[in-house]
Amino acid sequence: MASITIRNLDDEVKDLLRRLAAENDRSMEEQARVMIRAAVEGQLGPVGRIDQIEKTLRELTGSHGPATPVAAVSSQIPRGTLSGKRILLIVGGGIAAYKALDLIRRLRERDAAVRVVMTAAAQEFVTTLSVGALSADHVFTDLFDRNDEHDVGHIRLSREADLVVVAPATADLMAKLANGHANDLASTVLIATDKPVLMAPAMNPKMWSHPATRRNRATLQKDGVAFVGPAKGEMAESNEAGEGRMAEPLEIVAAIGALLDISPKPLAGRKIIVTSGPTHEPIDPVRYIANRSSGKQGHAIAAALARLGADVRLVSGPVGIADPAGVTTQHVETANEMKDAVERLLPADAAVFVAAVADWRSETSAGEKIKKVAGEGPPALRMVENPDILAGVGHHRKRPGLVVGFAAETQDLVRNAEAKLAKKGADFIVANDVSHEGGVMGGDRNKVRIVSKSGVDEWPEMSKDEVATRLAALIAKRLKTVVV
Ligand code: CTP
Repeated sequence: MASITIRNLDDEVKDLLRRLAAENDRSMEEQARVMIRAAVEGQLGPVGRIDQIEKTLRELTGSHGPATPVAAVSSQIPRGTLSGKRILLIVGGGIAAYKALDLIRRLRERDAAVRVVMTAAAQEFVTTLSVGALSADHVFTDLFDRNDEHDVGHIRLSREADLVVVAPATADLMAKLANGHANDLASTVLIATDKPVLMAPAMNPKMWSHPATRRNRATLQKDGVAFVGPAKGEMAESNEAGEGRMAEPLEIVAAIGALLDISPKPLAGRKIIVTSGPTHEPIDPVRYIANRSSGKQGHAIAAALARLGADVRLVSGPVGIADPAGVTTQHVETANEMKDAVERLLPADAAVFVAAVADWRSETSAGEKIKKVAGEGPPALRMVENPDILAGVGHHRKRPGLVVGFAAETQDLVRNAEAKLAKKGADFIVANDVSHEGGVMGGDRNKVRIVSKSGVDEWPEMSKDEVATRLAALIAKRLKTVVV
């Protein structure tokens, strides 16, 4: 039987393999097998361009791509940007440990020095040999190793870094740090460090949603530990899906970049509220009214504002993507809950309303599931209007100095946006065409116009991350001139 050495493949193919493997939580070998099988079965069609192959493979595997497009994160944290930064990476024991190998590579590509501590359980999933080869340093595993010439001691290990990253952060590692345990090298380093700590949790969805893990996460957040992910998705275990999948290596790199960022912070000291995602309006305990919003644009804006130093308070409806790094996120379901959460956050310097809030809700939400009754036909739902959160804040006595709205339109884009600008008391409206052909709702790209009293500024089509970065810069510029 022939075997393939992935190292010998073209860079383009290797990149594609790595991306799809990470998205599907497969090893590179397994992903290669899937691709070869698809090719043999003729599902890839005639040999074409690599991006077409990628699209076909995504369709075949039902993968929609990473929460944050890989290219977007790559461009945010280009090669060389982490030069001189020292990362201490603690690898916990979980199936996601193999992604730590890619994380080390991504960090080294950006010139970070990476030192790795592995727990005993982590060594069941990946070897110290491969980790050491990638990090180009000794791999630390034991708390007491008098014979080891590399034994630098846990205190030095924890202090000689700019940031401690735990990836994958298992339920056990979270519990240990939340409760102050120190019975192996990883937990001792975590409690001894005086540097920021970033955790990328990865575990079974049931473990992630367990009250003990939720309690530990809340404690750790209160103690100043930053989190990236987990995301929703298929688990490596068969037939399991839900929240618990480790953030992709490049998303972790982006979070590291945000935590270590030394770039100018024009929004430092500014509190900014952002709403994102859809709202769900219940009809009965199992049914609700919703829309196609993915939250990608709102979450990207929250992350971009945080990168510029803002204290971002994100109020998110139900979405399938991870909370952005460096942002305080609150989860809500309904328009009324979103309104209450936003109003409780006032006063603020600015507010950006990206959420696709449901305009109407059912007047009543049945306590029990509505049953079909023979001969009675469908139930008549009486709809009532939801509060307009943007308009409420736009005319509030605690109105932020800068209020930004969005306008999702399928026709008369600019005219409708101008009407919303006046009616809702916004300073400017980001108008986007959400007609189905544009693929904006749920997609990764956007084309917007900035509509304000002084006119209309048309931006070219770009990724949602680029729209977010540009919008954050515009908000920073506008806030400079706003007197609060
Ligand atoms: N918005 C809001 N609360 C609502 C409805 C909308 O805060 N109940 C905000 C959105 O977050 C967005 C802006 O208002 O910033 C415009 O949303 P859009 O859905 O485009 O407009 P609507 O006011 O809902 O009007 P229509 O659906 O008739 O276009």
